[in-house]
Amino acid sequence: MNVQERIDFLRKEISGHNHSYYVLDNPSVSDFEFDSLLKELQNLENLHPEYFDRNSPTQRVGGSVIDGFVSVPHKYRMLSLGNTYSEEDLIDFDTRLKKITDQPIKYVCELKYDGVSISLSYKHGELIQALTRGDGTKGDDVTLNVKTIKSIPLKLKGNYPKEFEIRGEIFIPISDFNKMNENRAKENLEPYANPRNIASGSLKLLDSTEAGKRPLDCFLYYLLGENNPTTSHYNNLKEARKWGFKIPTEIEQFNDINGVLSFVKKWEEKRKHLPFEIDGIVIKVDDVNMQEEMGFTAKSPRWAISYKFKAEQVSTRLNKITYQVGRTGAITPVANLEPVQLAGTRVKRASLHNADQIAKLDIREGDLVYVEKGGEIIPKVVGVELKERDLFSSPTMYINFCPSCNTELIRKEGDSKHYCINSDLCLPQIIGRFEHFIGRKAMNIDSLGSETVELLIKKQLISTISDLYLLKIEDLLPLKKDGRKWAENIIIGIDKSRNISFERVLFALGIRYVGETVAKKLANHFTTIHNLMNATFDQLIDVDEIGDKIAESVVSYFSEQKNTILIENLKFHNLCFISEEKEEYLSDKLEGISIVVSGVFDNYSRKELKDLIEKHGGKNVSSISKNTTFVLAGDNMGPSKKQKAEDLGVSIVSEEEFINKIS
Ligand code: IVH
Repeated sequence: MNVQERIDFLRKEISGHNHSYYVLDNPSVSDFEFDSLLKELQNLENLHPEYFDRNSPTQRVGGSVIDGFVSVPHKYRMLSLGNTYSEEDLIDFDTRLKKITDQPIKYVCELKYDGVSISLSYKHGELIQALTRGDGTKGDDVTLNVKTIKSIPLKLKGNYPKEFEIRGEIFIPISDFNKMNENRAKENLEPYANPRNIASGSLKLLDSTEAGKRPLDCFLYYLLGENNPTTSHYNNLKEARKWGFKIPTEIEQFNDINGVLSFVKKWEEKRKHLPFEIDGIVIKVDDVNMQEEMGFTAKSPRWAISYKFKAEQVSTRLNKITYQVGRTGAITPVANLEPVQLAGTRVKRASLHNADQIAKLDIREGDLVYVEKGGEIIPKVVGVELKERDLFSSPTMYINFCPSCNTELIRKEGDSKHYCINSDLCLPQIIGRFEHFIGRKAMNIDSLGSETVELLIKKQLISTISDLYLLKIEDLLPLKKDGRKWAENIIIGIDKSRNISFERVLFALGIRYVGETVAKKLANHFTTIHNLMNATFDQLIDVDEIGDKIAESVVSYFSEQKNTILIENLKFHNLCFISEEKEEYLSDKLEGISIVVSGVFDNYSRKELKDLIEKHGGKNVSSISKNTTFVLAGDNMGPSKKQKAEDLGVSIVSEEEFINKIS
C-alpha cells in the first residue's frame, strides 16, 4: 500500500468508526485504537500536504478562526411550521388537506427537536456547505463549525444523488447539557439556561476549535433536491440513513389521521424519558407529489404542521421573592425556589414579571407554587396551591424603593413595571449598560467579563461607556497579580471594537426598544448618526417597521445631553457611526418612490418584496399617507388600508404589475 492508499484507507476506516459511535451509538473500536488511527492519519497528512482533503476526518477538530459569518442565499427557502395544540386542530388539518386532494393521504410523524435548524448541502457525496436558517431566505455559513459535529458525515457512502440538501436540527443532549452546567457551577459561573441556546451559540462561535469542544449532535429530517431517490418522504429518509446520516428512529408512517393522533398521545408521555429535548410532534404528508400540490402559505408549508405539547409544570416551594434591577432601571421580581427538575433542567429561579402578576395570583413567600416552562427561556410561576398555604402568611408587599440604591421607584401609566430612575448612579444599571455594550451581539469585547466590569466601576476607573476607551494597561495592572497578559487582552479587545459596524454600535448604546433588528433598520435608513440624531418623530415612523414606541424612545434618547455627549466622546475614540452596509443594488427604477406592502402574496413573501423594493432604489414605508406613491397589495389586505388608499388617491398595484415594473 503506498502513502496515498494508506491515507485513503485510514480516512474511510476512521469515518466508519465515527459513524458507528456517533450515529449508530454502537462503538466499533476502543478509544485507544481510534486515537492511534487518527494520529497516524494526522502524521501522514502533515508529511504529505499534497493529499490535503477539506473533508478528511482530521478536519473535524476545527482550528480556523474567522472574523464573522458570510450570509448566503438558500437555494430552497427555509420555512417554519404552523402550530396546533389539540386533537381538534389536527383533525381540522386533515380535513383541510382532504379538500385539496381526492387521494388517500399518508402521514409521517416525527418528533419536533428543540434545537437549531441547519441546512446541509452535499455535492458528489461531500459536505460543501452548512447554513443556518437566518431569515429563511438567506442564512449564515457555519460550515467550519458544523464540520466538528461528528454525527454529520463529511463524505457519504452508498448510492446518493449527485447534488442535494438535507435539513435537520442541531442540539445538545440533556446529559451533556447537565454536565456543562455542573462544570460551570464548579467555576462559580451562572448556569446556562437551556440546551437550545448553547447549541445556537456554539454554531456562532468564531473559533471552530471552541465549537468542536461543544457536545453538539444532529438529527436530519428533510431531504430536498431534484434527484431524490423516491417520491415518499419516509422512504427518502430511510435511503438517507444508508448514506450515513443520523435519521431519527422515532419516525413513523400512518395511513390516516387516527394513527397520527395515537402517535401524539404516545409521545406526550414518553417524551419525558428521551435523552434530548423536544417541544412537540411534526406531522408531514408523505407523498412528495402531493406536498407539491398542496404548496405553501406565505410562511409555512400546507402539507406539514407541528403539534405543540402543553408546557410542563411542577410544584415547588417559593422561598423568597427578590428584586432585580435591569440596565434600563426596570425592576423584575424573581421567585427564588426550592430547586426542582423541570423539562430536563434544574430550576432555582423563576420570573414573577411585575407587581400586578404577584397581586393577581396572590403569590406569597412560603407558598407552594406551580412553575412552568413555556416557549420562553426563563420559567415562570403560573399559580399557587392555596390549600397548602400557611395560615399565618401575609400578602406580598411590593417594594417602593430600589433594592440597590434606595431611590423611590416610579411606575408610569401604561407601564407594567416599576422603574428606578437613578440611572447614572444605580450600580446594577451601570453594570447592565456596560454588559450590554460589551456583549457578543454588540461590541463583542469578550476579554471583558461582568466581574471585571464591576471591579473597574468600583475602582472608579470607568463610569460611562466611553471611559472604556481611555483605559490603559497601567490602569489595570494593579488589579490583578501577574495580570499583564490579562490586561493586554482587555485593551486589545477594546481596541478591536473600534471596527464594529455602525448598526452594532447603535444597538450597543442600549436605547430602549432598539434591538438588533431595529438598529439595523435605522442604520440602513439614516446611514449616519448625525442623520439619526436629527430625525424627527415623523421621519422615524416613516421608516418601515418603526412604530410610535420606538420613535419616541429614539427622540427622547437623543434629546438628553448626557447621551449626545456620550456619542461625541465615542466618535472621538473612533467608533463607527457611518453605515458601510451597501445593499445589493439592482436598478434605480423605483428611485424616489415610497411603497407600502400589504397582504399575502402568491409568489413572494412580504420580506422578499420589501427587499426587492430597496434593491431597486425604492423606499418601504409602513403606513399610507399622501406621500405614498402606491400600495403593493396581495390577498387579505385590510379593508381600512384599502379605504385609506382610496381616500388619499393612492393607487393599488398587484404583485404581477409590480414585478413587471421592475423587470
Ligand atoms: S420540518 C418545511 N421536521 O421546527 C418543513 N422541522 O417550526 C420544515 N423542527 O424550522 C421543517 N423538528 O427547526 C421539521 N422533525 C422536524 C423538526 C423540525 C424540529 C424545527 C425546525 C423548523 C421548526 C419549524
